[in-house]
Amino acid sequence: MTDKDEFVYLDFDTIFNFMKDVFIGMGVPEEDAATCADVLIESDKRGIDSHGCSRLFMYYVRLQRKQQLPVTKLTIVKETPGTVRINANNGMGQVAAKKAMQMAIDKAKKVGIGMAIVENSNHYGIAGYYALMATKQDCIGMTGTNARPSIAPTWSVEPMLGTNPFTFGVPTDWDFPWIADHATSITQRGKIETYARLNKDAVKGWVIDENGNAATDSKKILLDMLDFKAALTPLGGIGEELGGHKGYNYATFVEIMSSCFTQANMLQACLGIGKNGEFVPYNLGHFFIAMDPSAFCDINEFKKKTGDLLRQLAAAKKQPGANHVYVAGEKEFLAFEERKKSGVPISKVTQKQFLKIRHELKLEKYDFPFDVDFTKEDATGW
Ligand SMILES: NC(=O)c1ccc[n+]([C@@H]2O[C@H](COP(=O)([O-])OP(=O)(O)OC[C@H]3O[C@@H](n4cnc5c(N)ncnc54)[C@H](O)[C@@H]3O)[C@@H](O)[C@H]2O)c1
Repeated sequence: MTDKDEFVYLDFDTIFNFMKDVFIGMGVPEEDAATCADVLIESDKRGIDSHGCSRLFMYYVRLQRKQQLPVTKLTIVKETPGTVRINANNGMGQVAAKKAMQMAIDKAKKVGIGMAIVENSNHYGIAGYYALMATKQDCIGMTGTNARPSIAPTWSVEPMLGTNPFTFGVPTDWDFPWIADHATSITQRGKIETYARLNKDAVKGWVIDENGNAATDSKKILLDMLDFKAALTPLGGIGEELGGHKGYNYATFVEIMSSCFTQANMLQACLGIGKNGEFVPYNLGHFFIAMDPSAFCDINEFKKKTGDLLRQLAAAKKQPGANHVYVAGEKEFLAFEERKKSGVPISKVTQKQFLKIRHELKLEKYDFPFDVDFTKEDATGW
């Protein structure tokens, strides 16, 4: 299968407007719908195909089955000059997260460092969105969230921890900030779904099966993960030899920060499924930390120094066969430059999802340049 068969390209505005209208159609107030669509399109702009418009259907389904609420009523539970604890009351994760990061930044601007914790929330999309909010306001940003159980602790085969991104953003004097935005698992479910669609085997070491072996049949992995018969491995992979225990510990720290200050769920309680198989709220937790470098030094000197540091890393002697040493955030910056011209590749599965939602919400004003049968579900979902 070639890219040409699999993908159709759509421009940013069309996707953003469609997603915003879908959220509005599901009862999300207009301003919040714009926030949700903005978080998703930022992922598409940055080339992170696993978390952009391809995830619209996931939120659509969760809203449809009332597992999460379209109207996000935020309650401040506890606040100090430098910290705030927010209850998202099972609303939209993106709306709660954007508000929380902005509060952390505002506090950092006043007292040097600010931190916000959110409980009773839902999937918030790419963590990098919130780190970027901080860098755009000349702050360092850190964030993480817990998520559905996927990672097995080192020496276990049981999915316990979410893919728990631990994400950092630092302002620089480059054309883009340093944004290290990734999961604490070795890979994520979305990548295995992509491999399954292309009939490719998963990379050995990404997944451990219930017998402790490396599983590679991507379609089987997707089914087995639902039954807890397969788990993602932490950063570093299976066992301790390549440092799997270090990824396991980072994932655990994110879980602690996301759940232990509040009433947010932890570990397998984040499954979103109750004892009798019914859908229940996820009650996820997130954390956000903003630091204002100007509390320590002149902001432009800081950006020059972080820029110099990255220039030295990028100029390091290359591995034979490699033609570029990247710094975090660079690939996403390059993807954005490219996608401004090409648009966003929409896979066959996402095309089906768009058409199904368009039909159900009567959004026929969106005249997409694809026409696929959206009435049947396939092995990897819609
Ligand atoms: N909300 C959630 O529950 C959740 C859970 C997991 C992941 N996510 C999101 O999924 C997205 C993808 O996560 P992922 O784990 O697949 O990320 P990934 O493995 O694709 O890594 C991406 C990060 O690594 C950097 N990077 C890539 N190649 C590099 C290189 N050669 N040198 C230096 N840096 C390099 C990128 O700039 C980027 O910061 C992230 O945006 C993350 O926030 C969200």
